[in-house]
Amino acid sequence: MFFTILPDERRVLEIVGQCAQEMDVPAYVVGGYVRDRLLGRPTKDIDIVCVGDGIKLAEAVAGRLSPRPKVAVYSRFGTAMLRADGIEYEFVGARRESYSPDSRKPEVELGTLEDDQNRRDFTINALAMSLSETDFGHIIDPFNGLEHLEHKIIKTPLDPGQTFSDDPLRMLRAIRFSNQLDFEIEPSTFKGIAKYKSRIHIISKERITGELEKILMTDKPSVGFKLLFDSGILRLIFPEMVALQGVEDRNGRGHKDNFYHTLEVLDNLCRRSDNIWLRWAAVLHDIAKPATKKFDQEAGGWTFHGHEWLGAKMVPKIFREMRLPLDGKMEFVQKMVLLHLRPISLTKEQVTDSAVRRLLFDAGPDIEDLMKLCESDITTKNPQKMRRYLEGYEYLKERMALVSQADRLRLWQPPITGEIIMQTFDIQPSREVGIIKTALREAILDGEIENNYEAAFQRMLEEGEKIGLVKKD
Ligand code: CTP
Repeated sequence: MFFTILPDERRVLEIVGQCAQEMDVPAYVVGGYVRDRLLGRPTKDIDIVCVGDGIKLAEAVAGRLSPRPKVAVYSRFGTAMLRADGIEYEFVGARRESYSPDSRKPEVELGTLEDDQNRRDFTINALAMSLSETDFGHIIDPFNGLEHLEHKIIKTPLDPGQTFSDDPLRMLRAIRFSNQLDFEIEPSTFKGIAKYKSRIHIISKERITGELEKILMTDKPSVGFKLLFDSGILRLIFPEMVALQGVEDRNGRGHKDNFYHTLEVLDNLCRRSDNIWLRWAAVLHDIAKPATKKFDQEAGGWTFHGHEWLGAKMVPKIFREMRLPLDGKMEFVQKMVLLHLRPISLTKEQVTDSAVRRLLFDAGPDIEDLMKLCESDITTKNPQKMRRYLEGYEYLKERMALVSQADRLRLWQPPITGEIIMQTFDIQPSREVGIIKTALREAILDGEIENNYEAAFQRMLEEGEKIGLVKKD
């Protein structure tokens, strides 16, 4: 396979090789870097394993580099890191590790290169590249990793039970790599995931979510989520999503499978946006459908009334559980879930300006993202219907542009502040201030008055009068 080492990287790696030779500690590049170079993917860090003391090797290398980089030493892990030309070089001594069954904390002892390769997650990540002067760049491949790279296969180097028990996160990594690289998971490795899935409980929520987010950031995350579902691991790490799966039939009336629908929406959205929070919103937009599902006897069909509202309410719990941020990003996702049905209801011609204005007001600066989510939510297989829906959204976008141009709603700033109300009527902060502010906002949204200072001031005086306030002289 074709293999290039960039000049900056080669310069540092040759110095590593020289130092290693002088110190008599054979050194190798291992893991992701070798894989990514062979695949022609970009690299952010380079892992170097030496058969000896990795920290001493890092210090020797730093001494030869100019400018001399700082070496960060993590003595607890026996590793050291230095940065050169924007790339992180991580040094470690080859290790033999054994894990106790109920902990991720390994017992570590010094080992050989082979020991180090044995304890890696996949054959394609267990490739080592020699740094010695005599065979610089030579690949040491004990598990056919090169062949697996070529045939696009994810396989554990040892028995899957061993590799996954050593670090159960690897089950998610297998699925994530398969999705990211468009590789197949070799059948016995996949069976291993199904068999050992319950061990995932010893892994921290943060690390699990980290892998889910990497899946979410691929071009087609449905592939990863289907593998998570098929292996049974999704039920353990994201039960709310699994609850979407399935179709119930009553009197010959079914409904769509909301799990596969959600995945289609997600893939559609990924073609429109790489905003991870919007991608989360796609995952969660119908999350409350199972909880709101009812069969309407009279109409003879299934309903999911209020699922957007209940779904928005479920977001904080899911975010907390997944250790996702509980800040403005979560609020954005909630807003998307809450509003995802609004635009479709506004695609009819007879919709009033004030309804369009209210949507603009509620979505605020996130209206474009909301429209992307809604467009992605069209999963009909009927091309005529698809065209009709998309045209409806185009029409709505034109209406929104006209309305927002007319009243600058996108930059919504209430023209009259609470301060002005208090000064005008000479009152303290009170309920009355809130009543007037709300009345002004409603009047603007309903198009009764224009969104400017003069109109709003006049209306403020009228509203004040209604509740017995008198303008200060
Ligand atoms: N590794 C492992 N088991 C893990 C994590 C990592 O065996 N649970 C090994 C693999 O050999 C991997 C290397 O450590 O190639 C580096 O790990 P990391 O930087 O996390 O992954 P990369 O393979 O570089 O890929 P990515 O950055 O996409 O996670």
